Amino acid sequence: MKKGSLSEVAMSKPLSILVVDDDRSIAKWLKSVLAAEGYRCQTAHSPEEAEALLHQERFDITLVDIYLRESSGLDFIKRVKELQAECNCVMMTAHASVETVARSVNEGAVEYLGKPLKIDDLLSLVKRLGDRDSTGTSEAPPAVLFSPPTSIVGRSPKMLDVYRGIARVAASEATVLITGASGTGKELVARAVHEHSRRAAMPFVPINCGAVSETLLESELFGHEKGAFTGADRSRRGLIETAGGGTLFLDEITETSNMIQVKLLRVLQEGQVRPLGSNTIIPLDVRVLAASNQDVDALVQAGHFREDLYYRLAVVVIHLPSLDERREDIPLLVRHFLDDFNQRNQRHVSIRDSAVAALAGLPWPGNVRELENTVERLAIFSSFGEITASDVERGRPPLKTLGEPDARPAGTLQEMERRLILQAMRDADGNRSLAAKRLGIGRKSLYNKARRLNIDLGPEGS
Ligand SMILES: Nc1ncnc2c1ncn2[C@@H]1O[C@H](COP(=O)(O)OP(=O)(O)OP(=O)(O)O)[C@@H](O)[C@H]1O
Ligand SMILES: [Mg+2]
Repeated sequence: MKKGSLSEVAMSKPLSILVVDDDRSIAKWLKSVLAAEGYRCQTAHSPEEAEALLHQERFDITLVDIYLRESSGLDFIKRVKELQAECNCVMMTAHASVETVARSVNEGAVEYLGKPLKIDDLLSLVKRLGDRDSTGTSEAPPAVLFSPPTSIVGRSPKMLDVYRGIARVAASEATVLITGASGTGKELVARAVHEHSRRAAMPFVPINCGAVSETLLESELFGHEKGAFTGADRSRRGLIETAGGGTLFLDEITETSNMIQVKLLRVLQEGQVRPLGSNTIIPLDVRVLAASNQDVDALVQAGHFREDLYYRLAVVVIHLPSLDERREDIPLLVRHFLDDFNQRNQRHVSIRDSAVAALAGLPWPGNVRELENTVERLAIFSSFGEITASDVERGRPPLKTLGEPDARPAGTLQEMERRLILQAMRDADGNRSLAAKRLGIGRKSLYNKARRLNIDLGPEGS
């Protein structure tokens, strides 16, 4: 069969569409838009009403609002598939969570439409589904048009994989290792796993293993009794215990010493912890998530990270792609960060499309964090409440030049890091927070890196 354009398809055999939304005005509006394009359209305002229609006639597409009042739209999708297996279900939702995405994909939803609905998105989606059915092609399943979970933004295929990963593991108790370069959103993902687990109401306790010394980390994690070591003038509960019932997030896990790794492994294996200097053993009910921006596999191969702990932690691995690998998400992220900025500061800064395009064309070695910081800086300095392409050009952090290939060979990764840090410190006039920001890392990460690379950051407080 020839591949028809929208109008051809609509004319030869109009697609029939069922809109299910308890908001009558939206349902009515959708019907008029779809009818104007030549589609046959019916509306229903409850699953029961919709089911009655599904018994009467065949539909090519069902558009379902996920928050139907009576029963969830997800259960309804399942029902549609039972009654009409061929019907394409499209979810319309204002707040897709990782869970709903995974469930609805499992139940057979083929697409997502975020709310507020955009007519163009809707029509192109309907057209795509119509074309697909009319050509009878089943290759290339449609890229899911994705309404993202509230705090994680992105609808690139790679991010969709991440959402699926989160959704799959959240409900389980599995230990998860989250990997990805600095600023790609590892902590955000860890929080999402927690928020979608049965532990959501309990504490989420993050600890940056790279930010403190070995001894401090040991007592922070495991707790100690009064007098356990010099300076322990009172007993202290460890973070592992504090996370009881909830989730412990071990950030920068690869920065831990062998001693800490051994102790952590024991805690994970035995499900209990003994504070330093104590004889009491405390049983644990804690889920562990860990993150690293290093190639953990390589560290294990090189003997820098314990293999036994690695296998214990990496029951499931969620890898976050660099921003370079999901450039199509940049415009979404930019608008998200600007909205966020406006909300926090009660401002109304807008951004020109050309400025968004300019941002989308730049390299982001510091990934999402660097983009976030840049948008915030641009918003602060936008003179007439509007960010323009030339603001982007001017407001580019000095790091740009650093991100570009150097005339000299780069040398080792460490040398490269060293040079970047020194240059960022120079560009920021010795201001550590600013340098860290421009490097797209946290202040503590900057300290750690400086310590490891033997860089003197200059006097404190600058
Ligand atoms: N997909 C995303 N959508 C919205 N915000 C994001 C996204 N990814 C990252 N961010 C934001 O970018 C910043 C960095 O994210 P996060 O701290 O999770 O990164 P990270 O991978 O843990 O970085 P590091 O390795 O440096 O600790 C945070 O402010 C976070 O809210
Ligand atoms: Mg982090």
